[in-house]
Amino acid sequence: MSGQNVLIVLGVLALAGIVVVTAAPQKRQTNILRPAFSVGLTKMMNVSDQVNVTFDRIFLNEGSGYDPATGIFTAPYDGTYNFLYHALAELDGVLYLDLYKNQEYISSAYAHVTSDYGSASNAVVVTLKRGDQVYITGHGSSVLYGDPWEVYCTFSGYLMFFASNDQA
Ligand SMILES: *[C@@H]1O[C@H](CO)[C@@H](O)[C@H](O)[C@H]1NC(C)=O
Ligand SMILES: *[C@@H]1O[C@H](CO)[C@@H](O)[C@H](O)[C@H]1NC(C)=O
Repeated sequence: MSGQNVLIVLGVLALAGIVVVTAAPQKRQTNILRPAFSVGLTKMMNVSDQVNVTFDRIFLNEGSGYDPATGIFTAPYDGTYNFLYHALAELDGVLYLDLYKNQEYISSAYAHVTSDYGSASNAVVVTLKRGDQVYITGHGSSVLYGDPWEVYCTFSGYLMFFASNDQA
């Protein structure tokens, strides 16, 4: 083969490569809207006895994973999720919030400020299986501060990455 023919062959192979690469199908999961929720509390709530916090104002509930009746987020897909929560205690009050994955304790936020309002927050990244439940529960003598015009207590979560084996 002459040098020119080699160049032509290489050129054709390179073009074929570009066509193959650009024609490769996109991963299906990029077409799915990722589940995400963000909710807040518009009322005072006594969560002293392991009461699940039922955040009642829905800012976003993409995929409807969060249930305002129970305060529970149910994972629609296997994957890696980020959860964030923040809360304000009543005047001179205490707050102990615990984040659970099903019956498994994960993390807490605590605040107490004498003669004032204490606030606390926390965040966590966890892997979930479809159907796993994540929620926030209180203990101690916790009363959360909330009002329709004073939404200090919030809970948010979203899917960061689909599990690599998830076919959804
Ligand atoms: C919260 O509830 C607990 C028990 O259910 C009760 O002992 C406590 O007094 C209540 N706190 C407030 C501030 O209502
Ligand atoms: C909170 O939710 C969990 C998960 O569904 C449940 O097991 C638990 O009994 C609930 N706690 C209360 C006080 O309802």
